[in-house]
Amino acid sequence: MKGIILAGGAGTRLFPITKVISKQLLPLYDKPMIYYPLSVLMLAGIREILIVSTPRDITLFQDLFGGGERLGMRFGYAVQEKPRGIADAFIVGRQFVGDSACALVLGDNVFYGRGFGNMLREALARVECFGGGVIFAYYVKDTSGLGVIEFDESGRVVSIEEKPDAPKSHYVVPGLYFYGNDVLEIAKNVKPSARGELEITSINKVYLESKRLSVEFLGRGMAWLDTGTHDGLLEAANFIETIQKRQGLYVSCIEEIAYRNGWIDAGELRRLAAENSTGYGEYLAFIASEKS
Ligand code: G1P
Repeated sequence: MKGIILAGGAGTRLFPITKVISKQLLPLYDKPMIYYPLSVLMLAGIREILIVSTPRDITLFQDLFGGGERLGMRFGYAVQEKPRGIADAFIVGRQFVGDSACALVLGDNVFYGRGFGNMLREALARVECFGGGVIFAYYVKDTSGLGVIEFDESGRVVSIEEKPDAPKSHYVVPGLYFYGNDVLEIAKNVKPSARGELEITSINKVYLESKRLSVEFLGRGMAWLDTGTHDGLLEAANFIETIQKRQGLYVSCIEEIAYRNGWIDAGELRRLAAENSTGYGEYLAFIASEKS
């Protein structure tokens, strides 16, 4: 299984913060934003990851993660010349994906909640064994700017619409998708939408029409946070701060996840801890010293 993080876009909704830097590198409380979606792929057990970003920003991500060895992972990098849409990630990432199944996460999506790791591992196993697609449904008050899913009374998906004027439900599709290898072929045939983008919703509709799409509900105990506005960014940071301070356990700590996945050992984690003379470093040292 391969993973792609799409970290492109001009970030215009966050101007002027994003005038000279990628949105996905902005701080979300104590970590770069991309740590959060990266941790989602890592919790699913995905070790090989492609970061897709703009010609301007790609080197910053390379500086941040390098080849991924420090996390016991492998990172690749690819440039998306123009923001052509989410489905374009499977065109840009074609070579990297090869003949594997693939998960895609948007570089500004933050998820947090109990049992999420199990859901992720189940989604991964499903597309690896049976192909098709697995996406998620999350209830929100305001569906504007999002993909909206309509269900019938028995919970079957009736339609998925991208940013509809008249949304048919309050269930939206977060930016996290698992697909079999045929997503590469499907992506090649997607036509640009009215806004000129290759929509991920077009891919999901292909799987839906061929009855190969499963939609998992992210229930009330899950947080899927919006980082797309100034207020959303601050609220998400406050949310992370609240949980971390209360529990003393970090949200989306990639070094901790790599360690718990058995990709690095306690000595390697201690070395990473020593690089951070902050509470973050102290936390890594604490995890490394825990009895397993
Ligand atoms: C995209 C997708 C949309 C999804 C959203 C989640 O919107 O097109 O279906 O609900 O991400 O973040 P975009 O960021 O392209 O406006």
